Amino acid sequence: MPALQPETRDPIPGTRPPVIAVRDLVKTYDPNSPNPVRALQGLSFQIQPGEFVAVMGASGSGKSTLMNILGCLDRPTSGTYRLDGADVSRERRRRLASLRSRALGFVFQNFQLLPRLTALENAELPLQYRRDVSTRQRRARAEEALVKVGLADKLRRRPTELSGGQQQRIAIARALVNTPRVLLADEPTGNLDTHTGLELLALLQQLNRAGLTIVMVTHENDVAVCAMRRLILRDGRLVTDARQQPADAQAHLAALLQQPANDS
Ligand SMILES: Nc1ncnc2c1ncn2[C@@H]1O[C@H](COP(=O)(O)OP(=O)(O)OP(=O)(O)O)[C@@H](O)[C@H]1O
Ligand SMILES: [Mg+2]
Repeated sequence: MPALQPETRDPIPGTRPPVIAVRDLVKTYDPNSPNPVRALQGLSFQIQPGEFVAVMGASGSGKSTLMNILGCLDRPTSGTYRLDGADVSRERRRRLASLRSRALGFVFQNFQLLPRLTALENAELPLQYRRDVSTRQRRARAEEALVKVGLADKLRRRPTELSGGQQQRIAIARALVNTPRVLLADEPTGNLDTHTGLELLALLQQLNRAGLTIVMVTHENDVAVCAMRRLILRDGRLVTDARQQPADAQAHLAALLQQPANDS
């Protein structure tokens, strides 16, 4: 059987440098125990600015482990991770936290909003510790992000007063206030019905077309078809790295609405 690990091409001279470059990435949990968990077993790939990448694979294949490392929430056991050219795999925790808050935006399956805060206050949270951003600027930037995700008329609503799709939009606005280099999303449509999930995907696609780099974990093929590229993990290894013509989420949604409703 041929080696499953796809080769990583070095960037073609004259092309833009990758925003993410990982090489021989390994993550072993409990390395000194009798049963170490080899969650990532040597991944190598690069992501160019402006890409929209879907990360797929069975439960336990290492997707969240990879996202945690890409998100600077965890460090690899070995291998390198370059974010915008800087090797962050050996950075100290404090520096990682600062990188995380300035360069990366996160969206999770369960939204992770603070229920007592309004949409505006939730969206402002990542700017809370930024000394270089005034209170007024914070408010203005959070408002701008909420307008961008289509929630201009819900600024003062609390999450509990909004639908799941609207809550996830607040989470996207919160991820955007720092104008991140990359948006990392771990199953962002996992808690939404098909229709709402596609609406959210259309929003992500719109942000991507405006230049945002997105890396998104998903289990659903209907979601993955809207990305430009698929990375598929199996047992901590990259078994597929394929580019594809992305489906248009808005068109997909329109087609769905044409069909007679039988699941609602
Ligand atoms: N903190 C941890 N300590 C020990 N083992 C862990 C830890 N986190 C994950 N693992 C193990 O590492 C492997 C990869 O887990 P990971 O959460 O990355 O999978 P996943 O692809 O995100 O799965 P899912 O689709 O269920 O979310 C699994 O065997 C898991 O049990
Ligand atoms: Mg996971």
